[in-house]
Amino acid sequence: MSVDNLIYPLFVVDGQNHKSEVKSLPGQYRLSLDYLLKEVEDCMKLGVKCFDLFPAVEESLKNEQGTYSYSKDNFYLKYIKEVKSRFPEAVIMTDVAMDPYSSDGHDGIVRNGEIVNDATLEVLGKMSVAQAEAGADIIGPSDMMDGRVEFIRNELDDHGFSGVSIMSYTAKYASAFYGPFRDALGSAPKFGDKKSYQMDPANKREALVEANLDYLEGADHLMVKPALCYLDIIHMLKEEYPIPIAAYNVSGEYAMLKAAAQNGWIDYDRAMPEMLLSIKRAGADVILTYFAKEFAQMKA
Ligand code: PBG
Repeated sequence: MSVDNLIYPLFVVDGQNHKSEVKSLPGQYRLSLDYLLKEVEDCMKLGVKCFDLFPAVEESLKNEQGTYSYSKDNFYLKYIKEVKSRFPEAVIMTDVAMDPYSSDGHDGIVRNGEIVNDATLEVLGKMSVAQAEAGADIIGPSDMMDGRVEFIRNELDDHGFSGVSIMSYTAKYASAFYGPFRDALGSAPKFGDKKSYQMDPANKREALVEANLDYLEGADHLMVKPALCYLDIIHMLKEEYPIPIAAYNVSGEYAMLKAAAQNGWIDYDRAMPEMLLSIKRAGADVILTYFAKEFAQMKA
């Protein structure tokens, strides 16, 4: 296990001099640009070089089409540009999905209570190009719409961003372990759940179908999410596909360990690296984890 294997997810908010802790994610914060730059600098010194940024968007800027996601005024795009100009050697991954921008809190456009797959692709394409223009190195579609990797790949290529890579959330399960993340962004669905587009936790072989589509559509990395309850899926994709496999050690997984540690119920310093090691052993080449900075500090 090395720091090089890790991607650090960071939550960002518009404004200045703002750093608020996410209650259900002790040690993780929503950061304004000034704090974000400081955080990136600190992490880079520790050897953490790749960051996945997630925007917490004000409710008044959300709408049914998620148009703020590609608006010229989007603070998230400005932050990407700023981080890349200050730290050109930092690798910036972005999130592509409508939920932080959607007044419905869903990853796709909602019509008559249902998610409309193909109309959503247009929004995802615009969002991806806007992020690439801002300087993103890796586009991370987390929405689980069908056909979006190919659609985004074509849009990126058509706009001159053939060098921007796609880390596809390939096997993303409809999991209970995303709760703290939705607290961080205020992005929980306003009705229903995400089971019509995220996968059934009971289904293993469907991950192969999803992986095959994403691979053929041009994904550069395939991601499994969550990580710990899905080590068998990580292992299976690693055996089957000749491209890097990523795993997202999600918010609920972090929160559980932190809570146990805070209660003195577990030896955190041993349990945390053991968790990461298990994800790597299962076959993940890359791990997205809220533990990234602490792991690097431990190693330093
Ligand atoms: C949104 C998205 C989610 C996560 C990453 N991108 C939540 C969801 O699908 O509801 C979860 C990450 C985590 O729990 O740490 N498309």
